[in-house]
Amino acid sequence: GLKLVIIGGGSSYTPELMEGIIERQSILNTSEVVLVDIAGGKEKLHIIKELTERMVGKCGFDIKISATMDRREALAGADYVITQFRVGGLEARSSDEKIPLRYNTVGQETTGPGGFAKALRTVPVILEIAEEMEELCPDAWLINFTNPSGIVTEAVNTYSSIRCIGLCNVPINMERHLSEQLNVPADRLYCEFAGLNHLSWITKVYVDGVNKTDALFEEALFKENIMKNIPSVNGSREVVNILKLIPSPYLDYYFFEKEMVKEEQESLNNGKGTRADKVKEVEKELFELYKDPALNIKPVQLSERGGSLYSEAALSLIQSIHTNDGRIHVLNVRNNGAISDLTEDSVIETNCIVNKSGAHPVAAGKLPEAVRSLVISVKQYEKYTIQAAVNGDRAAGFKALLNHPLVHGADTAQALLEEIIEANKTYLPNF
Ligand code: NAD
Ligand code: G6P
Ligand code: MN
Repeated sequence: GLKLVIIGGGSSYTPELMEGIIERQSILNTSEVVLVDIAGGKEKLHIIKELTERMVGKCGFDIKISATMDRREALAGADYVITQFRVGGLEARSSDEKIPLRYNTVGQETTGPGGFAKALRTVPVILEIAEEMEELCPDAWLINFTNPSGIVTEAVNTYSSIRCIGLCNVPINMERHLSEQLNVPADRLYCEFAGLNHLSWITKVYVDGVNKTDALFEEALFKENIMKNIPSVNGSREVVNILKLIPSPYLDYYFFEKEMVKEEQESLNNGKGTRADKVKEVEKELFELYKDPALNIKPVQLSERGGSLYSEAALSLIQSIHTNDGRIHVLNVRNNGAISDLTEDSVIETNCIVNKSGAHPVAAGKLPEAVRSLVISVKQYEKYTIQAAVNGDRAAGFKALLNHPLVHGADTAQALLEEIIEANKTYLPNF
């Protein structure tokens, strides 16, 4: 049977993953799930272990669940390693969201300087994990959810021989939402995605094999924001009709920057706090529920988090690799020429054919011209961010922020960089 290792096993999302594992037991035949966490996550890890054991027990399956803080022991002999950890926890996320707001800049965990800070903390850890995998399970697949997912995946691809695929639940949520809006079942709908993680677009929509892209934009699509963690802004959907592209909800941070910053600052000033503060509350409630010895399923309250369809994205991907089924998934992978405007080594988010040999991006050609320069700038930001994180390189960090479309001016870039390094110094020994 398969051995799955979940790093960041104490995450409140783990029951979601477990549900996907259980649903596919007749296909995947998982025999062992190892939940890995760190000392600070010990209590959560314990609660999750007991809940997932009850979930498995309820179905009568023979899946051994264990919890450990010994990552090396866990990785030995793994078939799939799923990473979903948060270096510095929600405290660090809160700081990532708040620092940029003082510069009237978007305060968000993945988009803008907040994502930069998260990347600085996270890249060194994912590279340690990849190095251990090279020794202990060199043929295992690394399925990465850890944000910023595209950057983290590109770091592994650049510095390690481990096969790593980056995941995000936004594309599958966009597809499902479109399917509902058009009243067309998902299996009759085919969407082409192009771009980067949290910066991608549906560029073409086919219904029953017929290209309906132009006709579709006559209708008012995506009227409200579909992700729980992103505020809705006025007018955002009009952009869709002009561009004739359906943007990831994260594009609102670029297209409606001023309104987003205002909304975030207001929320902070009126005591509601940032998303991290909200998530702290939701998490507390979730873990209270998870502790209940009578609970043996994933509770509905988990849907208050942004990770809807998280498990579907991860486990259907593992299923395609394992069964060699050649199905298409929207993933973060090495470009390899699929998008001709970006270098081959850039990690992109696009449609991929998936089989035993991995995820193969489908050629997308050129990016739509209206968004081409935006994508190129953000990719340049991402590359400098990886350099900064790996080498503790301040100059690269400065160039990263200078290239980010949401950071305006060298003085702001410099001040943000110093404040971010200072706030995160316990996690950035190489700076
Ligand atoms: P969380 O705060 O619950 O963290 C998960 C666990 O990681 C915690 O139990 C924590 O103790 C542990 N952890 C921290 N540092 C660790 C380390 N060095 N090694 C192992 N474990 C460590 O976070 P969460 O809300 O469950 O999110 C987890 C991660 O998944 C985040 O990076 C988040 O951004 C990401 N995420 C990604 C997507 C996506 O679309 N790609 C969706 C949801 C969440
Ligand atoms: C979405 C994104 C994730 C992000 C999450 C945040 O699902 O795809 O990348 O991490 O939302 O959700 P949260 O509930 O933690 O704010
Ligand atoms: Mn995501």
